[in-house]
Amino acid sequence: MLTLVVLISGRGSNLQAIMDAIGRGDLCARIAVVISNRADAPGLDRARRGGIPTCVIPHGDFPDRDGFDHALAESIQGYDPDLIILAGFMRILGAGFVRRFDGRILNIHPALLPKFRGTDTHRRALEAGETEHGATVHVVTEALDDGPIVMQARVPVLREDDVESLASRVLSVEHGLYPAAIGKYGAELSTPETAPATGGAGSR
Ligand code: GRF
Repeated sequence: MLTLVVLISGRGSNLQAIMDAIGRGDLCARIAVVISNRADAPGLDRARRGGIPTCVIPHGDFPDRDGFDHALAESIQGYDPDLIILAGFMRILGAGFVRRFDGRILNIHPALLPKFRGTDTHRRALEAGETEHGATVHVVTEALDDGPIVMQARVPVLREDDVESLASRVLSVEHGLYPAAIGKYGAELSTPETAPATGGAGSR
């Protein structure tokens, strides 16, 4: 069974999808703790309702990113997770943090990487005239939104789409994608012959 630590900053619908997949028996994992950098993240209530411990580490309490990253890493270490799951976690993690948990951090990005790294992906996909869009689960390396891809899910872009309709179509596929990708990557991690190599360089 995989031990997960989930990091959030907001709504937590992907956290909910992971909790639901575990509850259904589709993902063999346990969430040891949900950590948020924002005390008002609605996702914290989802965790509490599911009986999962929560922890708030406000980034504003630290003078710089390294201080926050260090406190976050120390807290995570105490749970000894197999994987750290970024689920709408809106802080960029520094190189020291990423190296410390090398190859054990996953992120979900609302675009078909390597297209549309960064923010505002749905507006940019519409402006670029894409006919297809989607979401990517990738391993976090030191370069933003750039680590090895674990799985992707695609959706069509419809002529009548606006940012909201496209975002909602992508989000609905994220909810199936993330638990499936966690299961796939977790299985690879526990099978040494196929253990994924990140090459040490890497993403967010
Ligand atoms: C999702 O769109 C995800 O792709 C991005 O942040 C959003 C998180 O949504 N990384 P939620 O908090 O899981 O509802």
